[in-house]
Amino acid sequence: MMKFHISTFGCQMNEHDTEKIIWVLEKIGYQQTNNRNEADIIIFNTCAVRKTAEDRAFGQLGELQDLKRKNPDLIIAVCGCLMQKEEIRDYFLSKHKHIDIVFGTNNIHKLPQLIDRHLRTGDKVIDVIEDTREISDNIDSNRKYSYKAFVDIMYGCNNFCSYCIVPYTRGRERSRSVKSIINEVENLAQTGCKEITLLGQNVNSYGKTLEEKTTFSQLLALLNKIEGIERIRFMTSHPKDFSDELIEAYKSLDKLCNHLHLPVQSGSNRILKLMNRNYTKEQYLERIYKLREEIPDIAITTDIIVGFPGETEEDFEETLDLIKKAKFDSAFTFLYSIREGTNAAKMTNQIPDEIKHDRFQRLLDVLYPIGLESNKRLIKTVQKVLVEEISKNDENILSGRTECNKLVHFKGSRDIIGQIVDVEITNVKTFTLEGRMV
Ligand code: SAH
Ligand code: SF4
Ligand code: F3S
Repeated sequence: MMKFHISTFGCQMNEHDTEKIIWVLEKIGYQQTNNRNEADIIIFNTCAVRKTAEDRAFGQLGELQDLKRKNPDLIIAVCGCLMQKEEIRDYFLSKHKHIDIVFGTNNIHKLPQLIDRHLRTGDKVIDVIEDTREISDNIDSNRKYSYKAFVDIMYGCNNFCSYCIVPYTRGRERSRSVKSIINEVENLAQTGCKEITLLGQNVNSYGKTLEEKTTFSQLLALLNKIEGIERIRFMTSHPKDFSDELIEAYKSLDKLCNHLHLPVQSGSNRILKLMNRNYTKEQYLERIYKLREEIPDIAITTDIIVGFPGETEEDFEETLDLIKKAKFDSAFTFLYSIREGTNAAKMTNQIPDEIKHDRFQRLLDVLYPIGLESNKRLIKTVQKVLVEEISKNDENILSGRTECNKLVHFKGSRDIIGQIVDVEITNVKTFTLEGRMV
C-alpha cells in the first residue's frame, strides 16, 4: 500500500484543492499519513500570494533532500499556485533537483496518471495547464470535516489588483454552473453537512460567465432552500461589487450567517487607486454603514496591506482612520510583498522594511482594542455555536464558531461535535470567546 503525505500552504481554495487531491489518491488505493518519514509520496500544495509563503515552501522542500537520499524511491510532487508561474516553477526545479512531479491547479484529476508515468519511466513529469478557461468540475473531495464543507462556486479572478499574483496563477474568472453547485450541496446535506462556505476570489461577480445569467444573491437564495444545510458562508467578496441585492439577501435568507469578510486593503484613496481597487474609502464606509444599519449584529472582517509602494504617513493614517470608523471585528494584516509580474512590482518607490514593520505594529495597536470591544458586546448573550473540535490542551473543552464566525471555547463532551448548540458567552479575549452551554 502506497502512503502519501500532503502539506498545504495558502488560502481556503488550496485547502479545498488538497481535499480533492486526497480523494483522487484514496480512490486509487493510496493511504494518507501524517508522518513524512513513512510516506512513499510527499506532496506540497503551494501558495504564491506573498514571498514568505514562497520561501517557506522552498525551504521545506530543501529539507526533503535528506529523506530522498535515504529513500531514492520517495516521490516528491509539487503543485498549487507557485507552479502555475513559469519563472517560479523553473527556479524551483533548477534549485531542487529532487522534485519528481509538478502539476498545477487545473489538473488535480490527472495526478494518478502523472504518478504512473513517473513510476514507469523514472522521468521528471511536469504537467501544468496554463490555459485556465476550462473548469475541471468532476473532482470529488475527501472532506476534512463531515459537518462543514467548502464548495467552489467560481475559479480565477479578473480584477488585477496591482499587488496581487492570483490572476496570474488561477487564471480568468469563470463560474461553476448553478446545477453542479446545487448538486454538490444537496449531496453534502444528505451526508449530514450543516455548514457550507462558498469559495471564490470575488463571489459577488458570480454568474457573469454563465450562459444563463444568475447573480450571487440568486444563487444564495437557491442554496438557502436546501434542507439540512443550516449555515451558509462565503469568501471572498469585493467592495466594488458589494450590491444592495446582497444586503437584501442578508435580511431575507435565514441561513446566511451574519458575518461578512470584505477586504479593504487601504484607507487612502490615492493608494486604493494605485492598487486598482475601483472604490474609495467613502464608498467602502457607505457600504458598511448601510449593512450595519440593516443587520445590526453583523460581524465585519477585512484584509489590510501596509507598505504598498509609495504609501506615505498620511496614507497610512487614512487606513487607521478607516479602521476606527469601520470598527472591524478582526482583520488579516499583511506587509506588502513584491510579486514579480504584477504592476506594483514595477513601482520604484518601494517602502523600507523598518517603516513597514513600524506601521504594521501601529495597525495592530488600533485593531485589537476595537476587536475586543466588539467581542465584549457579546458577553451575556446566547450564541448558536457549531461545535467543531476538542481542545488540544484539555479534552473537556470544546471549540466552535458562532454564526458571526467567532471562536468560542466551552465545556462539553466530544459526542456533540458537529451539532449546533446554545452557548452563553461569559468572558471574552481579543481573538476568542469563552462560554457555557445552556
Ligand atoms: N480574492 C481575495 C483574496 C486574495 S489573497 C480578495 O480579493 O479578497 C488574500 C489577501 O492577501 C488579499 O486580500 C490581500 O490583502 C493579501 N495580498 C495579496 N497580494 C499581496 C501582496 N503582494 N502583498 C501582501 N499582501 C497581499
Ligand atoms: Fe487578487 Fe484582487 Fe483578485 Fe483578490 S480581487 S484575488 S486581491 S486580484
Ligand atoms: Fe495563495 Fe493561490 Fe490562494 S496564491 S492565497 S493559494 S489563490
